[in-house]
Amino acid sequence: MTLHTITWDDAAGTDGRGALRLLDQTRLPDHTEVLDVVTVDALVAAIERLAVRGAPALGVAGAMGVVVAMDEAEREGWDAARLDAEIDRVRLARPTAVNLAWGVDAVRPLVGAGRDAVLAAARQVAADDESANRELSRRAADWLLERTGRDRLRVLTHCNAGTLATSAWGTALGVVRELHARGALEIVYADETRPLLQGARLTAWELAREGIEHRVQVDGAAASTVLRGLVDCAVVGADRIAANGDVANKIGTLGVGLACREAGIPLLVAAPWSTVDLATPDGDAIEIEERSGDEVTGWQGTRTTPVDSPGYNPAFDVTPARFVAAVATERGLVEPAAGGTMGEVLG
Ligand code: MRU
Repeated sequence: MTLHTITWDDAAGTDGRGALRLLDQTRLPDHTEVLDVVTVDALVAAIERLAVRGAPALGVAGAMGVVVAMDEAEREGWDAARLDAEIDRVRLARPTAVNLAWGVDAVRPLVGAGRDAVLAAARQVAADDESANRELSRRAADWLLERTGRDRLRVLTHCNAGTLATSAWGTALGVVRELHARGALEIVYADETRPLLQGARLTAWELAREGIEHRVQVDGAAASTVLRGLVDCAVVGADRIAANGDVANKIGTLGVGLACREAGIPLLVAAPWSTVDLATPDGDAIEIEERSGDEVTGWQGTRTTPVDSPGYNPAFDVTPARFVAAVATERGLVEPAAGGTMGEVLG
């Protein structure tokens, strides 16, 4: 079965205009349910509760969200100011992944040209994401094999940066897939990724579907797995990469980076250029989403902590450029730990 994280389905919806179709990632791995989104309220809620998630998928959600808003404006008779405000709600639904705002901004200038022009541009955003992911995966695999000098790699990954987090193929898991296709992958250690279990639920689901050898480990095992020499590298995605090479990604990535530096193995960040934010000079300038403490203190409605113990729930951390051996994008590869900055890709 082909996996469609996010598409525009012309046949869905009730008014002949179609709908934004999302695979509801909160229901995986046990249930594959799709959501047809035709209102801004529903899209913002889907983004906030992580039904659609992962930076590149959020970029597509942002672009296609402009179409959702335009269709709703037509149905509800919104004026231009209301439409603008609703598009802004989509743009700001989550703060850390720059791709969401980037996706909105990529198609917004076409609003005056009509919804079909916006839809075509949004579909192009999705198509470009897949080709970017495939290209950056090839570049990353070449680099990892050369840097480690090994024929078959043992890889640690954190969170989910697979097909589910993108329009297709994946970034960090795209690199894993590329290595697997080359016969150059031995095993993947997938961090479970507290508190919402993107690694245990989503990465493991993707790897199992493809028959890729893997183990799911608790986040607290990652540093030990690295220092015991059980992996050759760590490969992760990113939500925003600052101009100096600092990387915001799922909380826990920083610990992986520290362990890799101590062990002398590379941390490679795989991300499309849409995740690079040259307007953000460094990690200090990146807004880190803080989510409800309830996600930490319980799971699916069952409390796991004393009632008087509130949670603290930053959703992302920033790994300083000095811990990042390489950032692989479709445009080129940068080595921040060796002093490389993102702008150098542009020449
Ligand atoms: O909170 P999430 O699940 O949206 O966080 C996702 C991540 O941190 C991913 O690693 C990142 O977006 C890259 S996805 C290709």
